[in-house]
Amino acid sequence: MEIIKTVTAYPTDYLTSQELAEIDHEISIMETREAAGIEALKVVQSYRGWISDDSLHVIAAYLNMSSAELEGVATFYNLIYRQPVGKYVIHICDSVSCHLSGYQQVLKAIQQHLNIGYGETTQDNCFTLLSNVCLGGCDKAPVMMIGKNHYEHLTPEKAVEILSSLQSELQSQSQSEQVEIEQ
Ligand code: FES
Repeated sequence: MEIIKTVTAYPTDYLTSQELAEIDHEISIMETREAAGIEALKVVQSYRGWISDDSLHVIAAYLNMSSAELEGVATFYNLIYRQPVGKYVIHICDSVSCHLSGYQQVLKAIQQHLNIGYGETTQDNCFTLLSNVCLGGCDKAPVMMIGKNHYEHLTPEKAVEILSSLQSELQSQSQSEQVEIEQ
């Protein structure tokens, strides 16, 4: 059995006041503290990008759960990342309708454009590539999701165009951050 490394920090020392406020809100609308598990994980991930073992342990302690129980929740929900991911996580649907509508070609184009395979992150930490079960847009296949956006009726060209536009956005963001630092 895999042992989850733990931290000894109190949840209130480890989690920020904003994270705690949002988790408390989730707890307040659930019947039990444990029921807020998935939402608490999402809150912390939204600030830290992913859920480390330390974060998992602290959230579990705050919700009066064992780390193993919360790990079970995190594993079940594929939008909780248990290892560092890039700024954008690409979830490509690899279920039947997408398979029959050009998924392979879209995947190949994305992999070639970013030079990464499934489960990998680009060297600049901008993109992570993951597969996903049906994203609910079977009549608009092939489909991928990046952040909260769903991209449908993909072709290899369209997929590369979407990624290129995100890359340009990231580039201009980093240029303006650079200008701010220099000022
Ligand atoms: S099979 Fe891909 S969205 Fe349903």
